[in-house]
Amino acid sequence: MPSNQPRSPEVFLNLNVRGMGASATLAINEHSQRLAAQGRDIYRLGLGQSPFPVPGHVRDALARNAHQKDYLAVKGLPALRQAVVDWVRRTEGLDYSPDNVLVGPGTKELMFLVQLVYYGDLVIPSPSWVSYAPQARIIGRHIHWLRTHLSSGLGVEPAVLEELCRKDPDRPRLLILNSPSNPTGLCYSETQLRALASVLRKYRVLALSDEIYSGTHYTDNHVSLARFYPEGTIISNGISKWCGAGGWRLGFFVFPDSLGWLADAMSTVASETFTATSAPIQYAAVAAMEEHPDMPGYLDRSRRILATLANHAYQTLSSAGAELHPSGGGFYLFPRFENLRDRLASRRIFNGETFCERLLEDTGVAVLPGNCFGRPDNELSTRLAIVDFDGEKALAAAATEDVDTAFIRKHCSRVTTAIERMAEWAAG
Ligand SMILES: Cc1ncc(COP(=O)(O)O)c(C=O)c1O
Repeated sequence: MPSNQPRSPEVFLNLNVRGMGASATLAINEHSQRLAAQGRDIYRLGLGQSPFPVPGHVRDALARNAHQKDYLAVKGLPALRQAVVDWVRRTEGLDYSPDNVLVGPGTKELMFLVQLVYYGDLVIPSPSWVSYAPQARIIGRHIHWLRTHLSSGLGVEPAVLEELCRKDPDRPRLLILNSPSNPTGLCYSETQLRALASVLRKYRVLALSDEIYSGTHYTDNHVSLARFYPEGTIISNGISKWCGAGGWRLGFFVFPDSLGWLADAMSTVASETFTATSAPIQYAAVAAMEEHPDMPGYLDRSRRILATLANHAYQTLSSAGAELHPSGGGFYLFPRFENLRDRLASRRIFNGETFCERLLEDTGVAVLPGNCFGRPDNELSTRLAIVDFDGEKALAAAATEDVDTAFIRKHCSRVTTAIERMAEWAAG
């Protein structure tokens, strides 16, 4: 054979990545785009990003820092690390050293790094956020899904965690606890956190407390697991959700002194991969973390809008026969339609994926099936994000109007209409 033919490399994919197909999230997005291209109006309750604008003073800080062009320290801008520990002291009453803060390009990247650097099994409840398990799979970590119950909001239960740990008490494990939760809206109470902390301490489990939705807790009563298990908990937070800046890509981990070795190992890997987080964004994030007179009002109005929407969704879907837990914070609800299984089966809908496809086709409402979050394929569960509305207009209106059902029907009508269509369609 003449050897002047161009030859591309053979297909040699890392075994951990091989076979990782496009997720159901993508399938729903593509289906939505096809329908939108045909002129259909699509209600986007699939993607979970903040509907609200980045607060004005934080945007101004970014504009003022556009000239910042130098690489920053791998752990992050010292002023930002200081602002983060001050913020944790104000919000949680806990003291940390700025040396133990690691800033990254989103907490998602930091979560990948912690799973890479820490040698242990990943332990998460079913359902959990979409990316924890795939990250473990890429790295080659064993994943243990914890059994959950609707009565406790589909969250981690101390007895279930104890049952797992007791079998092999010395095995290293990383538990990710997400509160407020994506996908369920569950916010763990102080009592639940205390009980979990005692099991975590007994088996020396490393805990990652994913608090990215903390600022959206509807009654502003977010409590960190770190209050009850400080020595074994990493706090994970950032500006993506409560500050509306997901696309800015900035998050941080806060470690206790006892986990300084892990912070150092992660920053070594960070120095060989992303180097440091974007400089202008870090300078702007200082403004997001420091006290500012506009921030309490921004957060309060965001929370009232989200809480009223979540309550409307809860009432409407429960009345239609769905089983779900009320949401206490964040952008999501996780209804299950097992009570309607017979009726749905007569319409040839047997699982979450066909439920979502047919719902989209028939009503234009896009939501995600429960199996994206680790629920069984045959379960009739879905996750909805209540964020398809103009957050800037709604926030402005909330400054002068009461935030009640009439308000959300007026300013977030795409979400209320979508939920009502979904409820009627499911019960139909
Ligand atoms: C539960 C949860 N954790 C973490 C993240 C990652 O956020 P970021 O990488 O923007 O900090 C998200 C984003 O959707 C999330 O929903």
